[in-house]
Amino acid sequence: MTTPTNPRLDDLLSTRARIGWGASAPPARPVAEALFEFGGGHPDPSSFPYEGMIEATADVMKAEGAPALSYGEPQGYKGLRELVAHKYRLFENLEVPTDNIIVSNGSGHALSLAFSAFVDVGDPILSEAPTFSGTLATIRRHGARVLDVPLDAEGMDTAVARQQLEKLRSEGKLCKLIYTIVNFQNPAGPTMSRRRREELIALAHEFDTLILEDDAYGELRFEGQAHPSLYALDKGGRVIRAGTLSKILGAGVRLGWLCAPRQMIPAFQGFLFGGGVNPYVSRVATFYMRENLVPHVARLVDIYRLKRDAMLKGLWEVLGGTDVEISKPEGGFFIWIKLPTGTKIEGLREAAVKSGIQFTWGPAFYANGGGEGFIRLAYSWEPPERNYEGAKLIAQAIKNAR
Ligand SMILES: Cc1ncc(COP(=O)(O)O)c(C=O)c1O
Repeated sequence: MTTPTNPRLDDLLSTRARIGWGASAPPARPVAEALFEFGGGHPDPSSFPYEGMIEATADVMKAEGAPALSYGEPQGYKGLRELVAHKYRLFENLEVPTDNIIVSNGSGHALSLAFSAFVDVGDPILSEAPTFSGTLATIRRHGARVLDVPLDAEGMDTAVARQQLEKLRSEGKLCKLIYTIVNFQNPAGPTMSRRRREELIALAHEFDTLILEDDAYGELRFEGQAHPSLYALDKGGRVIRAGTLSKILGAGVRLGWLCAPRQMIPAFQGFLFGGGVNPYVSRVATFYMRENLVPHVARLVDIYRLKRDAMLKGLWEVLGGTDVEISKPEGGFFIWIKLPTGTKIEGLREAAVKSGIQFTWGPAFYANGGGEGFIRLAYSWEPPERNYEGAKLIAQAIKNAR
């Protein structure tokens, strides 16, 4: 009999697993010991349609019987793809055929499918800096070489994007895709202007690349003008768009999608097993959302607007008069803070721990370094009065850390 030994993981792991080792994903749930959870982008459970989902589950079983629990179509439950198409029509006056939609396990998975389909280890991509830390973990696992593009009030700086694309061209390299979070950018907050959207699409055509448009929060707009999506503006089949039910229904349903030119769908589907992603939960979510989409989203907009305003109020009450910069996003879940000049990070860290405030440090959002003088606060989880109270505490900690 041979003696059991531990596997030699170093030799056995795939290249991608080795590359991605240690790439941190955001915490799945709020940190239990935090008194003020401003860390992850967690939707507020008190906003979830508890009764509505019980009813929808019963309705699915009554309407479809036990076969509702069968394997589903490889591209995802048709009813959910129709719901997504319906949502785009209602909210954006955009027609998307259901054949152009593929269902995924949340939009994080949708993005991963897009990277898997187009990015080999070492391939260059462009991304906003800062960008969503969860996607950075996925990008790292795919071994992409990330070229940073900064943001300003109009979103991704397309002049720098051009420079980066020209640099790649001079190296004889093809940029595989440009990753951008167009609405209420996570973490920095801006919404990409119409002008920049058009410029970015023109760049994708000029440099023969694709755009991966991440729109996890688009429906949660509190004010200001929405712009057509890159997917809607592009006439050349170069935009892949990711969406999710996480922020407008519940993150636990784990349902998202990619919306893409039809000929690309097999490239994504190849990375899924048969049976479709979550066909049963897709049914429940669809039955609920079909009836309630518009009023439910309207309710969420009111809930999150109040939360944002309470946090901003607390921050400004204490930090007014300093040279702090605090974003005011027109929607979504996050506030991005450029700390006042001379803030001592160590001092702030200690004070935040003492007050039990959970938040995310700037460097988590940068692929190639940077972000030391920034923090991100999520206002989505705590109720407005807690946002106000916690914001004043963190603001005081910032003030004291100079
Ligand atoms: C910008 C952005 N994209 C994608 C996601 C992924 O969300 P999910 O996988 O729950 O759809 C998030 C979640 O916070 C996000 O902020």
